[in-house]
Amino acid sequence: MISNVIAGNWKMNHGPSATRKFFEDFFPDLSFPEPRILIFPPAISLLAAVEARKGRPEVALGIQNIYWEPKGAYTGEHAAGMAVSAGAEYVLVGHSERRHVFGETDEQVQQKVLAAFGEGLIPLICVGETLEERQDNRVDEVIVRQIRAALNGIPETATQFLLAYEPVWAIGTGETATPSDAGSAHGILRDVMTEILGGDRASEVPILYGGSVNSSNVSDLLDVPNVNGVLVGNASLDASSFAAIAESA
Ligand code: 13P
Repeated sequence: MISNVIAGNWKMNHGPSATRKFFEDFFPDLSFPEPRILIFPPAISLLAAVEARKGRPEVALGIQNIYWEPKGAYTGEHAAGMAVSAGAEYVLVGHSERRHVFGETDEQVQQKVLAAFGEGLIPLICVGETLEERQDNRVDEVIVRQIRAALNGIPETATQFLLAYEPVWAIGTGETATPSDAGSAHGILRDVMTEILGGDRASEVPILYGGSVNSSNVSDLLDVPNVNGVLVGNASLDASSFAAIAESA
């Protein structure tokens, strides 16, 4: 399994010129090319990112969202095949902002996962509970439901994908799950995957933690069993802070 995956989700930040500037600053800051780095710029900045990271195969690019239809009258959406032809290798699916700001359902997440596999895009599937669900002791129930729905019907041949556990209350708040909370959620996700996919396949899937990750807390999180990488929001926007996270990993 690839471990120590360092992924940056820029959300709705950095247009094409800010993207070029990020990479100009990022590569000189990055002295440790070991970890696998994934960057998810806004779709409109993908081509600028492809150009800017030429010759640096340790950095792969992804799109933040896709629609499941291959083409058609879906104003504002991007198909999986279009993302591939723009240079994306990965796609975020089921991010909490898609679920909670845009009302994406478990079924829609599943359709997007299938569409990604259909076009050879590698999905990074996000799950996580809200604060209310955590306070109601429903963490296990929520993440198990989300992962089961997302993996429902995936083809036998679909071997390559990643998961991210991103508790909604930890996103953009400065609050991070404790290593013990992260370990418990990641352990559950590994167990459910083992049940669905079998041990050999499940052990190959990196599970990333996301939610207020920065260069000070990344090492402790990566020490937790079944935490195989991190998905970073705010701290991935600045080239030197994201490089510092990659270095700490
Ligand atoms: P923050 O790192 O800003 O909390 O965001 C996490 C996230 O949502 C990454 O997808």
